[in-house]
Amino acid sequence: MADLKSTFLKVYSTLKSELLDDPAFEFTDVSRQWVERMLDYNVPGGKLNRGLSVVDSYKLLKQGNELSEDEIFLSCALGWCIEWLQAYFLVLDDIMDGSHTRRGQPCWFRVPKVGLIAANDGILLRNHIPRILRKHFRGKPYYVDLLDLFNEVEFQTASGQMIDLITTIEGEKDLSKYALSLHRQIVQYKTAYYSFYLPVACALLMAGENLDNHVDVKNVLIDMGIYFQVQDDYLDCFADPEALGKIGTDIEDFKCSWLVVKALERCNEDQKKVLYENYGKPDPANVAKVKALYNELDLQSVFAEYESQSYQKLIAAIDAHPKKEIQAVLKSFLAKIYKRQK
Ligand code: IPE
Ligand code: MN
Ligand code: MN
Repeated sequence: MADLKSTFLKVYSTLKSELLDDPAFEFTDVSRQWVERMLDYNVPGGKLNRGLSVVDSYKLLKQGNELSEDEIFLSCALGWCIEWLQAYFLVLDDIMDGSHTRRGQPCWFRVPKVGLIAANDGILLRNHIPRILRKHFRGKPYYVDLLDLFNEVEFQTASGQMIDLITTIEGEKDLSKYALSLHRQIVQYKTAYYSFYLPVACALLMAGENLDNHVDVKNVLIDMGIYFQVQDDYLDCFADPEALGKIGTDIEDFKCSWLVVKALERCNEDQKKVLYENYGKPDPANVAKVKALYNELDLQSVFAEYESQSYQKLIAAIDAHPKKEIQAVLKSFLAKIYKRQK
């Protein structure tokens, strides 16, 4: 077999062609080209960690048995459904966050002639998922569970996005409500379920498992997802946007980021005043003052400490799991994100 990533990308082409020939809509050349450009722009250009993890996890669950062509295709297709879900959330997230770049290019809604058509493109991306699932999984015994899983996780993610957004409402900007408990609730829902639980849950369903028997796995994955979003919050401020592929907006957007929570925990009264006066304003001069304060409070070291502690805790939780193949799934996932720079 060629390397996994190229196999995975071939499956993307197949799924895309099927959607572009969907008999349920009378495509014209123009509308077909729009969807094709929209998909190519938004779906395959990321790290593909979430999608590839479905295939990796499924292989590990099969304990080294060679996968059939069919199993490879299906696990890739499920991986792509997660990448589609991610594309849907990101297209809308960038509009709501007023972001500028994503994956090293302008956000889709910033592309000339796209604008708020991007909102409908997000809805289309979301609607492609059940179409892919119906085409390839309809006869499977786990089909209903798969649909239910995607629906459940989408609800969790949208709910997390809601709290992320309503905490920043203009006129109610109040840093005193920002604490680790609120941060945890936001990131657990907006990130952990779809990014960490969903890929492994897809692989478990394909392997014939009942998800109710894997609550312990889910809990570890949620903790991993929280750690992942803390990294995202950290990188938003401290990474090189060139390497990250996106320009951070958390300070401007008054987000309940892990950094501002840590800053509030550690600052004295004068520093608190600086935060209250500068956080959540679009002017680069205000943003610079917040960043200077983060440096003064040495949040880079605070993060480094958090990172190594989280890693140790996660490894300990994984080692406590009775099944070796599940341990392998979780460790391979953790290895992909530990000390990531993008
Ligand atoms: C958004 O979190 C999570 C989802 C898209 C559901 P962020 O707003 O922090 O994501 P980025 O930093 O824009 O990628
Ligand atoms: Mn965002
Ligand atoms: Mn972010």
